[in-house]
Amino acid sequence: MMHPRLSTFTLAVLCSLASALWAFPFGPVLELDVTPRTTVPVSGLLGCNRFQGLAVNYSTLLLEDGAGMLYVGAREAVYALNLFNISVTRNNTSMDWAASADQKRQCLTKGRDNQTECYNYIRFLDRYNETHLYTCGTHAFRPRCAYIDAERFSFVRFEEGREKCPYDPAKGYTGFIVDGEMYSASQYEFRSSPDIRRNFPFPNLRTEEAPTRWLQEADFVGSALLRESINSSIGDDDKLYFFFTERNTEQSPYSSQTRVSRVARVCKGDIGGQRTLQRKWTSFLKARLVCSIPEYELQFNILRSVFIQEGPTVHDSTFWGVFGLEWKNVKASAVCQYSLKDVQAVFDGPYMELQDSKWREYSGKVPDLRPGSCITDQHRAQLINTSRDLPDSVLMFARRHPLMAKQIQPIGGRPLLFKKSVDYTRIAVLKVSAVDGRSYRMLFMGTDDGWLHKAVEIGDRVHIIEELQLFEGSQRINNMVISRKQGSVYVSAASGVVQVPLSACARYTSCYDCVFARDPLCGWDGRQCVEISSYPDKSNITQDVQMGNRGCDDMTADGLVSHRTRSVMAGDDVLLQCELHSNLAAPRWTLNGEQLQGYGTEAGYRTGTDGLLIIGAQSRQSGHYRCYAVENGVWVPVRSYMVRVQPVVAASPRLPSDPTALPESFFTTTSMLPVTPTSVPTEQPLHSPPAALPSGPEFQTNRHMEAMYISLVAVLGGLCLVLTVVLLYVSFCAHSDQAGRKYSQHGLSLPAVTERKRSSHLELKTISSHCNGRADMRGRAASTDGVFLQIVPGEGHASPSSEPPPAPPLPMPPPLPSTDFTNGLSATLPSVLRKMNGNSYVLLGQGDSEMTSPLYHSFTEELNRILEKRKHTQFDVEPDESSV
Ligand SMILES: *[C@@H]1O[C@H](CO)[C@@H](O)[C@H](O)[C@H]1NC(C)=O
Ligand SMILES: *[C@@H]1O[C@H](CO)[C@@H](O)[C@H](O)[C@H]1NC(C)=O
Ligand SMILES: *[C@@H]1O[C@H](CO)[C@@H](O)[C@H](O)[C@H]1NC(C)=O
Ligand SMILES: *[C@@H]1O[C@H](CO)[C@@H](O)[C@H](O)[C@H]1NC(C)=O
Ligand SMILES: *[C@@H]1O[C@H](CO)[C@@H](O)[C@H](O)[C@H]1NC(C)=O
Ligand SMILES: *[C@@H]1O[C@H](CO)[C@@H](O)[C@H](O)[C@H]1NC(C)=O
Ligand SMILES: *[C@@H]1O[C@H](CO)[C@@H](O)[C@H](O)[C@H]1NC(C)=O
Ligand SMILES: *[C@@H]1O[C@H](CO)[C@@H](O)[C@H](O)[C@H]1NC(C)=O
Ligand SMILES: *[C@@H]1O[C@H](CO)[C@@H](O)[C@H](O)[C@H]1NC(C)=O
Repeated sequence: MMHPRLSTFTLAVLCSLASALWAFPFGPVLELDVTPRTTVPVSGLLGCNRFQGLAVNYSTLLLEDGAGMLYVGAREAVYALNLFNISVTRNNTSMDWAASADQKRQCLTKGRDNQTECYNYIRFLDRYNETHLYTCGTHAFRPRCAYIDAERFSFVRFEEGREKCPYDPAKGYTGFIVDGEMYSASQYEFRSSPDIRRNFPFPNLRTEEAPTRWLQEADFVGSALLRESINSSIGDDDKLYFFFTERNTEQSPYSSQTRVSRVARVCKGDIGGQRTLQRKWTSFLKARLVCSIPEYELQFNILRSVFIQEGPTVHDSTFWGVFGLEWKNVKASAVCQYSLKDVQAVFDGPYMELQDSKWREYSGKVPDLRPGSCITDQHRAQLINTSRDLPDSVLMFARRHPLMAKQIQPIGGRPLLFKKSVDYTRIAVLKVSAVDGRSYRMLFMGTDDGWLHKAVEIGDRVHIIEELQLFEGSQRINNMVISRKQGSVYVSAASGVVQVPLSACARYTSCYDCVFARDPLCGWDGRQCVEISSYPDKSNITQDVQMGNRGCDDMTADGLVSHRTRSVMAGDDVLLQCELHSNLAAPRWTLNGEQLQGYGTEAGYRTGTDGLLIIGAQSRQSGHYRCYAVENGVWVPVRSYMVRVQPVVAASPRLPSDPTALPESFFTTTSMLPVTPTSVPTEQPLHSPPAALPSGPEFQTNRHMEAMYISLVAVLGGLCLVLTVVLLYVSFCAHSDQAGRKYSQHGLSLPAVTERKRSSHLELKTISSHCNGRADMRGRAASTDGVFLQIVPGEGHASPSSEPPPAPPLPMPPPLPSTDFTNGLSATLPSVLRKMNGNSYVLLGQGDSEMTSPLYHSFTEELNRILEKRKHTQFDVEPDESSV
């Protein structure tokens, strides 16, 4: 152990270095994180239709655009919904398919949980032929499959499902039927090894288990057929791709990861070998999918969902993968994009070989007829017409070399999108054309807590247009399909299915709002934000997906800016409310046309997410205040206030010297924040913003400082390598080093509470309250009527309403959310703090448990985490009287 005094010194050094650094937007990791522009809670959804039958666990979705049907598999039920409006039901919409009581008893005797596992979970649902569907369910741990007459929507025949469907409802599974052939991949039984199968027609095929096991505890998430035979110059075959995460058997000195994401491929025409690889795939190959942020050694190795989009030709196909981190205590997601050409190149490259129980690149001779390839013209020229004709040498090689040596890198070498504090579970992509004549890809991602993120790929970046809360109660998004024809996304979760319109442009109330959104489907027609698809002539539509700031020239025409008056006594604190609708907007204030400089207590001002607080108002602070939402470099007026500060006259509590002040509430006591809740409701538009304003927010950083900081980090790195143990105490240090530090780095400052240590969901929120003793729960002392500032944990949706908040009707403080504050990772809402200042406040989660997380095996990562942590502990500053 270190000498206590030495460690104290070290702590001091580390703390000061860390505090010098924390302000710097340190890592590209932080910068990569994308903040959704707007946050829409369930209550704010527009035009959604819901379906909720008697069943739960809606998971399987089969979209049939032509027939206008959406087939849904749930627990013990199958539904046939109307694609146009899934809420419309008929009497033959649903079909029950429960496991028998006897079957459930047997399931229980197998040691299974009769509350969760001993039901029939529908796992497979696909079109079988023109008239029938095929479906499989876990059937209380005894899988069954069935044919469904689609016309009458009724079961016609049941059969054994053991080889086609997993027993376990939670096991990764993928499959499809094409040309009357069923393919599936899963770890079907508890003890069996995972398998990719052709289930029918005969001969069915499977993967090899010995001497080389081709799949290791694979968890399948998706599959696709790509018709590579079409117009193939080499007479190639169609190929099936399977996506999964499996146990990492490649021991790499640089990787501590136990799991690895992969894509495997087989040929559709494969019928297995004659003697070697009999009834096994002869064309099986797999390769690693990489999705990492190299400079951070941050590897997203758990594949959660894929989406394949075919290009103009099949070889131009692209696919997207949603990845997570291996460590369960850290929420983070990355979206990586891959091109099929890169995948093909890796499958055409060198193989790996197991030598002395280690996988190494194989550099020896490869048979002429390339093992793992489909039957091509080259084979046919040698009279090899099927995989059964393949020579044993080729098959022996294929059997031992299922793994490719090269890894599949994402397009651009890094994730397209990185998102902290969020676990994406599904992704779907849609290509749309915008007014500018380009086409854009829109990404729809579902989260593990019931949200849908809608994003657009602009160049090599992703802009998240909005996040929509589709389901309450942290339900995981199970599945998602898009119908372009219906203009809808269909999303399933435990409690039901929801049909979400691709766009809800009406939610944007001004030209700027419409243009800032950068939604390729929305445009401003001069009066309102409209779905551009409903306008055949787009010449009049204002839209700017590329930059998100051009086209709306008249600042005052849209959005009536409310004007209000405040009269207060000198020495009082005044809150001027200004709620910003967009998470990407930064609030800026002007006084008499001049931008307010310095928001610290010294200057007598503080800004928060929802307003400006004038602390201990003085007469020089009287004047005309304007609040602007600054987004994409445009200053949009939001609110305007006329503030009159009355000098305090000792004798008389009421001093009607200024007749205009008479209708205002007027407080004699200056001890507690008497902000007048009543105001003159005159609505008058603002004029254009002050001329001499700086063009951008000052928190944009000097890039050239980066090198300096990096060297600083290197120095700090050396220091900390010696003192790694001490790092464990830095959190303590960060806490004790708080007093007096103002959260004003980005033009923001916060009042504070003491108890909310490490709570990651804090928001400066204005509430109105007559404290009846309960408003004090967070340790605030406040006892007069009026408006208080409080940090409210776990509540943070931007209010879409720009109306002035009504006077407090009833003096009840908002109920305390039951969030577990000791664990910053149990996010009730996606990173609420981002509301503070766009991208500047994002959370990776800062529970203490992370301290030991192997995620931070690299020092840079460790440091970054400390800096992150520090950022959040800034909220834990001592209570500051002046903030009340
Ligand atoms: C089914 O839904 C319930 C909630 O309704 C959930 O607790 C459970 O985990 C779900 N089971 C599966 C296998 O998804
Ligand atoms: C869908 O159907 C439901 C129930 O009939 C109805 O309330 C809802 O308005 C419909 N939605 C649309 C967009 O037509
Ligand atoms: C409901 O079902 C009955 C028979 O089960 C059928 O005769 C009737 O036409 C159906 N009604 C509708 C509206 O589909
Ligand atoms: C589960 O089994 C227990 C007995 O082990 C029984 O009491 C309970 O009712 C069963 N629950 C269900 C939902 O079948
Ligand atoms: C579709 O498959 C079902 C079940 O095997 C069969 O009864 C039916 O005749 C088939 N329909 C066609 C059009 O082939
Ligand atoms: C349901 O019944 C209606 C009328 O009874 C019929 O038109 C329809 O084809 C049936 N099947 C489905 C899946 O809607
Ligand atoms: C195949 O090639 C022909 C002629 O070059 C072309 O017309 C056709 O569209 C191609 N098919 C596909 C699916 O690319
Ligand atoms: C392969 O097909 C060709 C013609 O399609 C035939 O002449 C030849 O005998 C076949 N070879 C084998 C091994 O079946
Ligand atoms: C375009 O806008 C102008 C003026 O706002 C209007 O007169 C004209 O009708 C619009 N054209 C279309 C096609 O909407």
